[in-house]
Amino acid sequence: LLSQMGPDALLTMILRKHPSQRSAEDLEVIYEELLHVKAVAHLSTSVRKELAAVLVFETHGKAGTVLFSQGDKGTSWYIIWKGSVNVITHGKGLVAKLREGEDFGQLALLNDAPRAATIILREDNCHFLRVDKQDYIRILKDVEANTVRLEEHGHTVLVLEKSTTDSTEQGGAGSSSKYTVMSGTPEKILEHLLEKVKLDTNGNDAIDSCVGDFLLTHKIFMASSQLCPALQHQYPLMFTVRGQPRVSYVTNALCRDLNPWRTYHAQPPKGSELEKADYSLAARQKVVKLLGQWVLLYGLLLKDDPVALDFLERLKKEVAADSRLSTMPKDQLRERRRTRLSENGNHSLSRQHSQQFDWFCNCEEPVGRLQPIRGQDKVLYEISRPDHIPITLMLPVNTSVQEVLSAVTKPGADCVLVKMNSMGDRAQLKLDSSAVSTGLGLNERLFMCTSGQVERLRPLKEQQGPEQGTADALEQMCSKDVASQLTHYDWELFTAMHEVELIYYVFGRSKFPGGATTANLQRFVRRFNEVQYWVVTEVCLCEDLAKRAALLKKFVKIASVLKEQRNLNSFFAVMFGLSNSAVQRLYKTWERIPSKTKRIYCAYERLMDPSRNHRAYRLAVAKLSPPYIPFMPLLLKDMTFIHEGNKNYKDKLVNFEKMRLIAKTLKIVQGCRSQPYVHSSPTRGLADRMLLEAPSIRISTYCDSLPCRSPSNIRLYVQNLSVIDNQCRLTELSRTLEC
Ligand code: CMP
Repeated sequence: LLSQMGPDALLTMILRKHPSQRSAEDLEVIYEELLHVKAVAHLSTSVRKELAAVLVFETHGKAGTVLFSQGDKGTSWYIIWKGSVNVITHGKGLVAKLREGEDFGQLALLNDAPRAATIILREDNCHFLRVDKQDYIRILKDVEANTVRLEEHGHTVLVLEKSTTDSTEQGGAGSSSKYTVMSGTPEKILEHLLEKVKLDTNGNDAIDSCVGDFLLTHKIFMASSQLCPALQHQYPLMFTVRGQPRVSYVTNALCRDLNPWRTYHAQPPKGSELEKADYSLAARQKVVKLLGQWVLLYGLLLKDDPVALDFLERLKKEVAADSRLSTMPKDQLRERRRTRLSENGNHSLSRQHSQQFDWFCNCEEPVGRLQPIRGQDKVLYEISRPDHIPITLMLPVNTSVQEVLSAVTKPGADCVLVKMNSMGDRAQLKLDSSAVSTGLGLNERLFMCTSGQVERLRPLKEQQGPEQGTADALEQMCSKDVASQLTHYDWELFTAMHEVELIYYVFGRSKFPGGATTANLQRFVRRFNEVQYWVVTEVCLCEDLAKRAALLKKFVKIASVLKEQRNLNSFFAVMFGLSNSAVQRLYKTWERIPSKTKRIYCAYERLMDPSRNHRAYRLAVAKLSPPYIPFMPLLLKDMTFIHEGNKNYKDKLVNFEKMRLIAKTLKIVQGCRSQPYVHSSPTRGLADRMLLEAPSIRISTYCDSLPCRSPSNIRLYVQNLSVIDNQCRLTELSRTLEC
């Protein structure tokens, strides 16, 4: 009989055998055949041999049969041996047709996620080679091609790659996900990540780190105006038919997707209405979980985004009506607090429970006195005329130069806006540039004049900085107290800034619609320069050699306390100041410094060594636990490198690898602030509270006997530093001190 069989019939007979009953020759026949199957042809001989021993032959007679539905648990991987299938996803309908030799169903196995699509037979009598999950994991998971590409309508929409990083970084504890998004269309990336959102709110925060990366960077490739409709699309609306819950998009999508020329009627996927309702609830919970994360991340910034606000408002009623949805954002906050924040952070939770559902109930205003500058805020514009008479007015932070000019001049007047630094370098500002007031550098000012007057503009006296130093006042202040107040102020500046400002700053604010502001970041960066030049200014304005040496010693001591307080930003600022050429050249002063102080200074210098991409600093920082204030200019440099070295899009798909790198830097900023420095306590002053409650920051004893030693005076002093930033003038001063 066997000798009369054609090769196809023989092969089919072998395949139909239970895998355990296949002989060595049978396996050889299957193995040979697999060489011609597109889905496995690229695999090694040994892998194909192993597959031959486990493949199960599966046939289905009727077109329209649902092999499995989106949301199902993944149990097997399939190769199409004969026939073809439709790939259908919720909301989108038919996205791909797969034919003989092609495969499907690997995604759920690789990512341990639910099925990402429904598979329906396109024709009668389809044959499949099925590999069950256990075998797939054993044989293929580690040897399969490193890349998985998903197509829709003939175009690649998602590229996943086997990741080399460890699973804890990729998916958090317990996640077995090893395939990560490399590129994709924004909508498909979102769809994929939503599928991977886990709903076990009892355990660890199961939000995949990829979701975090997406939310942190979405503004680069998916504005709210695109994100909100996409989320809406993923959010199935419930309606009832004769008292029974129905899910709108599931059945609609399927009816639309089945080929109209078929005579059969649209079959709903396997499973009861109840199962579908469960699936739909899970889909809505995933969207709500993602939105909860989104609101936690951007907080009140979302209130400045009309599209986001409108979307959240529209969804609010529906979420509020269903306790299975409305409690999720609170649970998320509780989880985050449990894992990240100290016990004290839980103070307001019980109160929130009794309140009505509100997306923003978890958003906290910064605790410090310094309020963040928001995109819609008005800020002070100080503009000088050529005769140095000032004009001051309050204008929205993002006002354009054109608007500033029309606010201060008559229509048609020949007027330009110029910014000038203390050296007298001028730049005429373009009419369409905006937010010029908050973007000014240290000692830089705005001027308004006719175009003919630009060349004759001179800096204001105040831009030159002080003529007298404050060494005497500083001498009275304890180094620890000065450092503490510096840190206190830095912490306020640092926390007033949102991580997304780094994206706006590096990519260019104009690329983002609406009220994108970088004002808080720029304020923080300006402060770095201010502290740096404060050190140089004070040293160069101190004429007495002995006092100058004491001042140098004091600055090294301040640097030391700043480092101890984990304020690396100001630590570097002070160290940069000390390493300025105008200070370095003062040999006589340095000679007078005790050798112990010098040794400390030299050790700190090594930390500043920029070689091997600031390796010394990076190693030191890696050991720190939050809270700490990072060296901001280096983070900005890292971001710029990532941005300039990687394209936003690869073959018209979002280069998500780049987004992950950007998110990694932003997460450093998040990590630094994941523990509070400040807790509210009505009895103590803010500075004292911060010192007490930051774990490693020591309490300093204030000597209040001298007025300038009081914390409030020191605070006033450090917040109002007056500095010379003109390097030529500083060098000149230094030369007059020691020629
Ligand atoms: P899995 O999620 O296990 O089940 C559905 C399968 O459909 C999926 O794996 C992919 O193998 C396959 N598929 C093909 N194209 C797509 C697509 N555009 N979106 C989702 N799944 C797709």
